[in-house]
Amino acid sequence: MLRLLCVLVVSAVFADRATYYNYQVRRVVPENQEQLKVLNDLEAEPNGLYFWVRPSRIQKAVDIMVPPHMLPFFSEIAEGLNLKSEIYISNVQHLIDTERPKVRPTADFGWTDYHTLDEIYAWLDSLVETHPGVVTSIVGGQSYEDRQIKGVKVSFKAGNPVIILEGGIHAAEWISSATVTYILNKLLTSEDPVIADLAQSFDYYVFPNVNPDGYVYSHTTDRLWRKTRRPVGNGCYGADPNRNWDFHWMEAGASSDPCTDYYAGEYAFSENETRSLAEYFKSISDNLVGYLDFHSYSQLLMFPYGHTAEHVSNYDELLALGLEGAAALARNNGTQYKVGSIYEAIYPASGSSLDWVRGNLGAPYAYVWELRDTGRYGFLLPANQIIDTGEETLNSVIVILQEAKRNLQGNTKR
Ligand SMILES: *[C@@H]1O[C@H](CO)[C@@H](O)[C@H](O)[C@H]1NC(C)=O
Ligand SMILES: *[C@@H]1O[C@H](CO)[C@@H](O)[C@H](O)[C@H]1NC(C)=O
Ligand SMILES: [Zn+2]
Repeated sequence: MLRLLCVLVVSAVFADRATYYNYQVRRVVPENQEQLKVLNDLEAEPNGLYFWVRPSRIQKAVDIMVPPHMLPFFSEIAEGLNLKSEIYISNVQHLIDTERPKVRPTADFGWTDYHTLDEIYAWLDSLVETHPGVVTSIVGGQSYEDRQIKGVKVSFKAGNPVIILEGGIHAAEWISSATVTYILNKLLTSEDPVIADLAQSFDYYVFPNVNPDGYVYSHTTDRLWRKTRRPVGNGCYGADPNRNWDFHWMEAGASSDPCTDYYAGEYAFSENETRSLAEYFKSISDNLVGYLDFHSYSQLLMFPYGHTAEHVSNYDELLALGLEGAAALARNNGTQYKVGSIYEAIYPASGSSLDWVRGNLGAPYAYVWELRDTGRYGFLLPANQIIDTGEETLNSVIVILQEAKRNLQGNTKR
C-alpha cells in the first residue's frame, strides 16, 4: 500500500512536466536581408520554435530550439533560403537530465548544484542569523502568485553608497541566481582583503530571484520557462519581465503577442514583479551607484542602453571598465566575453530593468552579464560549472566596484 502510494505521488509530480526529447538547438547565421527577414517573421509568431537567441542583424548567430516534429519544416525553410544550420544541441532533454549531479549534495547550501526557490530563501534567512548586525532581510516586491521577492541587505556601516545585485528575472537562467548567491557569499565570507574591503565600502541590496513564480515553475513543470506566470490571454501565461519596465517600453526588441517569449506585457509595469520591484528600487535610490544584473547565456558584459544606439553620458568609461572587467573574468579559465552597450552587443531591446534603472535612477555603474556559455549548453549549463562561473564573474565585479569606489573618493575630495 505504501509503495503504491509512492508510485502515485511520483507520477503525479512528473505527469505534467514538459519534456524535450530529441528537441534540437540549431544555430544559423543570417548572411543577407532576406534570410534575416524570414527568421524575424518566424520568431514573431508563436509556432512551436523557441528562439534561445533571437535574430538581430546580419552575421549574428541565432539559436533556435526545434521540436522533432518540426525538423522537416525547419529544414525546408533553411534549404529554401540557402541558410546553413549547425546542430548545437542534439537532444535538449538529455542536457536537462544531466545538468545536475546524480546525487544531490546533502551538506549545507553550496554551489555544486542548483537550488529551489525555497532553498535559496531559507539560505538568505540563515544569513541574517549567521551575520547579525550586517545582514538584514528585505522584500523587494510581490509576485503575481503572491510570493515575496526576497533579498538581503549587506551593510557593514551606515551611509555607504548603494549597489543592487539582481538575478533570475528570466526564470530558465538558473546560473544567474546561482552566481548572485555565490557573489553574496563571497562578500560575506571571503578572507581576500580586496573583497572584504569592497564588502565594507558599499551597502548591497541582493535579490537572487526577482521572478520567483517563474523560477518555481522552471523547477516543477517546465525547465525552460522564461516569463512571469500571470494568465495573459489566448491560453498563454506570463510577460517577459525584462521587457516590461516603464522606460521606452515596447519601442524595440519586444513583442505584443502574449504567447511569445518576448511579450512586453499589456502595458509598462503590467507585471506585479516589475512594478513592485521598481517601487522598491526607487526607495533605495538616493545613493545608488551600481546596478549589477545577471542573465545567461552568450558571454557578454553590457551596459545601457538597449532601446537606442545613442550613448549614455559615461559611455567611454563604461566601455573601458567593461573591457577591464572582461579581462579579469578571463584570467581563471580563459572565458571570453564581448563588451558593449546592449544595443550594440546583442540587439535592440527596450523595457529592460537595466535601461529603467539607468534612465530613471541614474546609476552610473549599471551592467548586465550574459553568463556562460556560448551555446554548447545554453540555458542548461551543468551545475559543475557554477563555481568556476561564480569565481570568474566575481573577478569582473571586483574590477567594476573598485573603480566605483575610486571614483566616489575622487568626487568627495574635489
Ligand atoms: C498584483 O497586482 C494587482 C494590480 O495592482 C493587485 O490587485 C494584486 O493584489 C497584486 N497581487 C499581489 C499578489 O500582490
Ligand atoms: C578555472 O579556474 C579555476 C581558478 O584558477 C581553477 O581552479 C579551475 O580548475 C579552472 N577550471 C577549469 C575547468 O579549468
Ligand atoms: Zn535573460
